[in-house]
Amino acid sequence: MEMTIIHGQAHKGSGWHMTRSIAKALDDGNAIIHEFSLPVDADKFCIGCYNCILRGCEFCPHRDRIQPIVQAMESSDIIIMDSPTYCMEMSGALKSFFDHLGYMWISHRPNKAMFRKVGIVVSTAAGAGARGVTKSMARQLFWMGVPKVYRLSMNVSAAKWEDVTDKVRAEIDERISAIAGKARGSVNTAKPGLKQKVLFNMIARMHRGNTWNPVDRNHWESMGWLDKAKPWNAS
Ligand SMILES: Cc1cc2nc3c(=O)[nH]c(=O)nc-3n(C[C@H](O)[C@H](O)[C@H](O)COP(=O)(O)O)c2cc1C
Repeated sequence: MEMTIIHGQAHKGSGWHMTRSIAKALDDGNAIIHEFSLPVDADKFCIGCYNCILRGCEFCPHRDRIQPIVQAMESSDIIIMDSPTYCMEMSGALKSFFDHLGYMWISHRPNKAMFRKVGIVVSTAAGAGARGVTKSMARQLFWMGVPKVYRLSMNVSAAKWEDVTDKVRAEIDERISAIAGKARGSVNTAKPGLKQKVLFNMIARMHRGNTWNPVDRNHWESMGWLDKAKPWNAS
């Protein structure tokens, strides 16, 4: 099994420890693990230049930092991401990373490989907001075509992992082992549900008449998606 871990912050807090525990629970001893901590470079938040969307991801000024993560995601079976809850939202570092992947949304140039991945998203909060953050992280993966995303949100009542009580840690362990079991079962079997398929088909119709973004349209055409081909089918 191959996994990509993306930490939405650079420190080793609750989210970092939980994500590491998930990876450990999934590792049969032979797992290949790619691990990244965001921000990849504090100066390199998405600048909204539109190069990725209108010209190609190779024109992103931050491609050297972003594309290695995309390549790791592409070759992995499972993508695990964590973010602390900051002011009821995901971290700015993780949001900027997702902004860099806007070109991979179903509405632009989805990556075929994403339609077979399993996602696990993790967020902790001191008291409130983690659930909304995991919902938001899962939405990002949904729009990239990831068919199955498991969410783990926890209110840990602590600023630091060291201060998380044994009781909360026991609950975390229980939830991690349940999610790891489900995620393992979804590898190689996950397929988009009705909502994602309907969305994909609606956007395919849109791209048949696309005169505004030739890069997007050419992608859909070359994948055969303007005809009958679907990214979730083998071939
Ligand atoms: C800037 C900042 C904003 C925060 N906002 C919230 C919040 O909206 N709700 C909350 O319950 N906790 C909030 N917290 C607390 C953290 O979410 C909490 O300590 C979390 O477990 C940290 O995760 P980490 O250890 O993985 O970094 C905030 C902390 C910081 C530093």
